[in-house]
Amino acid sequence: MNLSGNTILITGGSSGIGLELCKQLVHKKNTVIICGRSLEKLQEAKSQFPEVEIIQCDLADKKQCEELIHRVKSNYSKINVLINNAAIVNKIDFIGTENALEMAENEIAINFLAPLNLIKELYTTLQQNLHPNIITITTGLVYTPRTDYPFYCGTKAALHSFTQVLRKQTENDKVKITEVLFPSVSTPWHKGNPPKMAISPEKAVSQMLKGLEKEKAEIKVGKVKLLYIISRFAPGFAFKKVNSIQNEQ
Ligand SMILES: NC(=O)c1ccc[n+]([C@@H]2O[C@H](COP(=O)([O-])OP(=O)(O)OC[C@H]3O[C@@H](n4cnc5c(N)ncnc54)[C@H](OP(=O)(O)O)[C@@H]3O)[C@@H](O)[C@H]2O)c1
Repeated sequence: MNLSGNTILITGGSSGIGLELCKQLVHKKNTVIICGRSLEKLQEAKSQFPEVEIIQCDLADKKQCEELIHRVKSNYSKINVLINNAAIVNKIDFIGTENALEMAENEIAINFLAPLNLIKELYTTLQQNLHPNIITITTGLVYTPRTDYPFYCGTKAALHSFTQVLRKQTENDKVKITEVLFPSVSTPWHKGNPPKMAISPEKAVSQMLKGLEKEKAEIKVGKVKLLYIISRFAPGFAFKKVNSIQNEQ
């Protein structure tokens, strides 16, 4: 993928990996549109990168999703890259949490259904433009789950599986379907307590962009490559290892 001259929608571009993507892609002379729930965080991003277009949208809300799609189609008809990055995680004890099902529905809506909705509704527009690419952000946890995340790993494993299917079903189209699997990255996601092994957002995004330049279909960043291999040959060991990772105190 040519890393300049694209029109890119990054969901969840107001924090962490999305914000770093926004920074590096603006720097490389792309038109970047970001969305997120918090207007304050979007405005803070805009103050850092005035060229960025911001759209407030809660991806869990179908109506807001429709409005986002409509705005993007009408105002940015040259869009050729969609980066499905926004996600949340509920770190809960499933049986012990009263509204666990509500939390699961919300997490599935944001992490899995919203990317599908955006892909379905923006596909034709993307396809009409030069060098279209649909990029899905997942995690090494698609290979083995963390036991404190009852829904997150499942939503991302579903997205991983869907991405593989979509790539096959659209293989004769010009749209590229890319998945980026990140290891732990030190972002606000971890609420000030990232795992010791977490890499910086700068490093994570630089590796992602290198993979995109090489036109890789699956970009396994950092230790995800190793986790993939271990999970294939020693799944029990991979499960134990992933669940022994300590956070910074
Ligand atoms: N950090 C890690 O260790 C790590 C590891 C592997 C994969 N990942 C993946 O990387 C991606 C980005 O994570 P991050 O670490 O950068 O997280 P982050 O700092 O928490 O950022 C998440 C972004 O998503 C937005 N978002 C959340 N819910 C939304 C909703 N309902 N509608 C619209 N926007 C929403 C947030 O903005 P608002 O809160 O304002 O909505 C924010 O901009 C996620 O897909 C995550 O699964 C992260």
